[in-house]
Amino acid sequence: MILPILRWPDARLSTTCAPAVLSDALQALAEDMLQTMYAAQGRGLAAPQVGRLVRLFVMDIGWKDGARTPVAMVNPEVLRVSDERASGPEGCLSIPGPLTVVERAAEVRLRWTGLDGAAREEDFAGFASVCVQHEIDHLDGILTLDRIGPEARARAEAEVLA
Ligand code: NI
Repeated sequence: MILPILRWPDARLSTTCAPAVLSDALQALAEDMLQTMYAAQGRGLAAPQVGRLVRLFVMDIGWKDGARTPVAMVNPEVLRVSDERASGPEGCLSIPGPLTVVERAAEVRLRWTGLDGAAREEDFAGFASVCVQHEIDHLDGILTLDRIGPEARARAEAEVLA
């Protein structure tokens, strides 16, 4: 089922999400979120973007270039970040229009639970690193707009509200 995607400045996008509990309902939510993400031409989608304030996100960074490889992360945690920083333009399905350049750690190590209940740990670099940090930010109520300077934010807000 394709779900409506909340748009900034909806207050639910600025809320810290609660830990997710594995259940059939959570599985169904993850499936709906993937369907919603693909339909919206996105590469990542976090539960609060569809109004569910739990720590779950889905992503598939390469699907536009080949086969679909969907990933769902339940209760992801950042275990380590690199000192090296990287920045690039980021889009967000909840902030249609502007791409905002956000500085982040170049590499991160995450731990999360899969929908099968298994604990996983993995290092991410490149665009995957950007994507997981962007989605985890959503779970903490942080948007790209919150990570850029006031001038860039004012420009981006004007573009969204135009
Ligand atoms: Ni986003």
